[in-house]
Amino acid sequence: MKPKVYVTRLVPEAGLNMVLKSCDAEVWEDELPVPREVLLEKVADIEGLYCLLTERIDAALLDVAPKLRVVSNYAVGYNNIDVPACTAHGIPVGNTPGVLTDTTADFAFALLMAAARRVPEAVRYVLDGRWKTWGPKLMLGVDVYGATLGIIGFGRIGQAVARRARGFDMRVLAHDPFLEALPPALDDVEVVDLATLLAQSDFVSVHVPLTESTHHLIGPSELAAMKPHAVLINTARGEVVDPDALLAALTGGQIGAAALDVTEPEPLPVDHPLLALPNCLVAPHIASASIATRNKMAVIAAENLLAGLEGRHLSHCVNPEVYARRE
Ligand code: GLV
Ligand code: GLV
Repeated sequence: MKPKVYVTRLVPEAGLNMVLKSCDAEVWEDELPVPREVLLEKVADIEGLYCLLTERIDAALLDVAPKLRVVSNYAVGYNNIDVPACTAHGIPVGNTPGVLTDTTADFAFALLMAAARRVPEAVRYVLDGRWKTWGPKLMLGVDVYGATLGIIGFGRIGQAVARRARGFDMRVLAHDPFLEALPPALDDVEVVDLATLLAQSDFVSVHVPLTESTHHLIGPSELAAMKPHAVLINTARGEVVDPDALLAALTGGQIGAAALDVTEPEPLPVDHPLLALPNCLVAPHIASASIATRNKMAVIAAENLLAGLEGRHLSHCVNPEVYARRE
């Protein structure tokens, strides 16, 4: 008999078909996330869960999923999952690192450039019929080339952003308390404390996972420490930046602009004051959204799910301690 699994959204066929072939799978096909109460019913008799960052996987869910043997998250980040609770239940948790690194770094750079050169504002200006002539002072922005880029969180994605900055002759500062050594190819990056990074950077890009210690990592005092023309880019998690402090910093001229792919909350309500600011650019959490990358993520998440169901170690497991516990 094929194992029963639940897939919480229509993921790309490349991965979905692997699951459909090997499992007795039910798929939530709506555009919007599966409601919590439906999910709690669905997990009652499943052995595998293929989920997204829109689903909260916590102890209350695990308690009503007695047969669950694997949780496979279609994302690199897993702040939606109570990992210690999964470990306590003996359940390995999979994620999709690596394949989205460059795609996400590309998008962080796209946001950086769009904010620096005011691309969304300029496009809107044309669409609004306001373009009358070439103007010496029209839509003046700040230069990217030669500027200083501060990268907070120098893991895979942060390092990929640094490689892109090279082509723009940027000076790169990095802050990461977990960094052991710079990779040889990036040995010209200056590793600094957070205060130095904030004070010296023209662009600050955030690439940390969301944890208790990174929640509102960028708050009133960090924004106040930034340069008045500085641009803040967030492609990590919305909760890393305090939205009220950001609103105050943008309206008060403490920083120049912000470009966000992630927000708190998500989605940001259309009447949210951040969306009314010309110097705040918001995208709908799409940094990893290239066709190729989303296909690869779907396959890795399917492989993690199938490995867990077959009792094999997941190739990308965020709680490998679960295996030590079992053996
Ligand atoms: C997306 O945000 C991810 O964590 O993969
Ligand atoms: C985080 O997951 C990263 O790849 O930097």
